[in-house]
Amino acid sequence: MLHDPNHIYIFDTTLRDGEQVPGCQLTTPEKIDIAKDLERLGVDIIEAGFPVSSPGDFQSVVELSKAVDDVIICALTRANKNDIDVAADALQYAKRPRIHTGIGASDMHIKYKFNSTREEILERAVAAVRHAKSHVEDVEFYAEDAGRADLAFLAQMVEAVIAAGATVVNIPDTNGYCLPDQYGSKIKYLKEHVKNIDQAIISAHCHNDLGLATANSIAAVQNGARQVECTINGIGERAGNTSLEEVSMILKVHHQAFGNLTSNIDSTMFTYISRKVSEMMNMPVQPNKAIVGRNAFAHSSGIHQDGFLKHRENYEIIRPEDVGLEEADIILTARSGRHALKHHLERLGYHLDKDTLADTYQRFLVLADAKKNIDDEDLLSLVQQ
Ligand code: KIV
Ligand code: ZN
Repeated sequence: MLHDPNHIYIFDTTLRDGEQVPGCQLTTPEKIDIAKDLERLGVDIIEAGFPVSSPGDFQSVVELSKAVDDVIICALTRANKNDIDVAADALQYAKRPRIHTGIGASDMHIKYKFNSTREEILERAVAAVRHAKSHVEDVEFYAEDAGRADLAFLAQMVEAVIAAGATVVNIPDTNGYCLPDQYGSKIKYLKEHVKNIDQAIISAHCHNDLGLATANSIAAVQNGARQVECTINGIGERAGNTSLEEVSMILKVHHQAFGNLTSNIDSTMFTYISRKVSEMMNMPVQPNKAIVGRNAFAHSSGIHQDGFLKHRENYEIIRPEDVGLEEADIILTARSGRHALKHHLERLGYHLDKDTLADTYQRFLVLADAKKNIDDEDLLSLVQQ
């Protein structure tokens, strides 16, 4: 597969790693609905499911393959023939199919999950890639628990699967264990020690157990990874996966630091798609979540509100319009200042002189101490008094 070294491939696994979370299950039509939005959002790859896991998941991969035209549709497997055959079958209608196969790479997984040896695991990895390759051209290999794997063995595994035909090598920090510099160094090591690494794209797949999934994914990109695996709202196993909106926005806000890297993501869809996924999957978004949380563009302290109203860039590094919000929120609480109150009154058509504003502000503070948030109705009754 020819790839553009200056492009960051966004691999969305909301419908696989995200959907396997208890309570997040979707029907096939719901998955198609989200997949179409993901396509409009500009993701490069949609991981549509794990076809061998259930007849329903198999059917979803079939239907998503039919419904989506431009994006690569990927199906997950373990490193065995049956999983791979079932995935290939599910992908039969995909215009651009990818099989994602893999096996544990850490000694912990090799010993306690597979009761095996490094040599045997290596053979199984290569055999799985070869078998997947007999079905499709585009084969991604995941070295599960790579975050805790021995580096030299990981490099050996990556080299062997690329030689067997893997087009993408996924280096998952399955347990969210690594620090950003550790994960970044791992990618750098692979870039420097795997002879055939230029024949594949390195992919970052990070979990958020220590709250580092986004930082680790960014460290991977800084060290040569060109695919990032992520989910809308960061949903996923346990503490979740890397959040798509966070990674994309970091690449956008700091585009100069990332040289010529491009992605196809249309960030103005973030608010819409975040709310939709949250509702459909019954997974509320924490209010202070970066980029898409309810408070991500809400200014509430008097000092911030005053600075923001003087010049929005004092307290705004992302424009709300860039994530599909109409405008920032100036929330009125007992911590708000006169400037914020004046702003809201003017929005409602009241231009008060200095003394009336001072008087209204005193009455506003009494009300705000008694009531957490002040809404338009409260303001109207304050000025009308
Ligand atoms: O976290 C992980 O290791 C995974 C693999 C199956 C890619 O989700
Ligand atoms: Zn995962």
